[in-house]
Amino acid sequence: MTQRAITYGVFDFLHLGHVRLFANIKHCILNDTGSLIVALHADACIKSTKPDAHVLYPQAQRAEMLGAIKYIDDVVIYDFIDTDLPNRDFDILVVGPDQVNEHFQRAINWCHAHKKTVVVMPRTKNISSTEIKNKIAKELKL
Ligand code: CTP
Repeated sequence: MTQRAITYGVFDFLHLGHVRLFANIKHCILNDTGSLIVALHADACIKSTKPDAHVLYPQAQRAEMLGAIKYIDDVVIYDFIDTDLPNRDFDILVVGPDQVNEHFQRAINWCHAHKKTVVVMPRTKNISSTEIKNKIAKELKL
């Protein structure tokens, strides 16, 4: 049976850690046969929940860049994972080890209650959007 995986995130400053996450889901979890949905955190929701966060690319641009990645079959926008997830057609939720806030906890509990598979994918070491932003700020002495 063809499976559908879904994963959630901001995916600002697209980097190798993100691309490897998508490649690993497609190759290792979906065996190159299923489809991958990437859910992108909405600008308005980020602004209201993390007013100090600096997101470089607006959601339409983040969505367009993700849509160009060959491992991704569909891109959707979300506000909160726990209210979004029950409305999606999927079999496997993939989360990062860093995705542990109360919304992710509730979404993971929902998956367990509804017989959906949850996979925790290890992060690629030594890279993150925040680290890239900090490096640029330091280099440019901002
Ligand atoms: N991710 C990863 N390896 C990295 C960075 C991120 O596998 N080096 C994964 C996260 O675990 C998560 C997804 O990418 O599943 C989306 O993470 P996101 O928060 O958008 O990326 P970060 O680079 O961690 O961004 P930030 O520094 O703003 O937290």
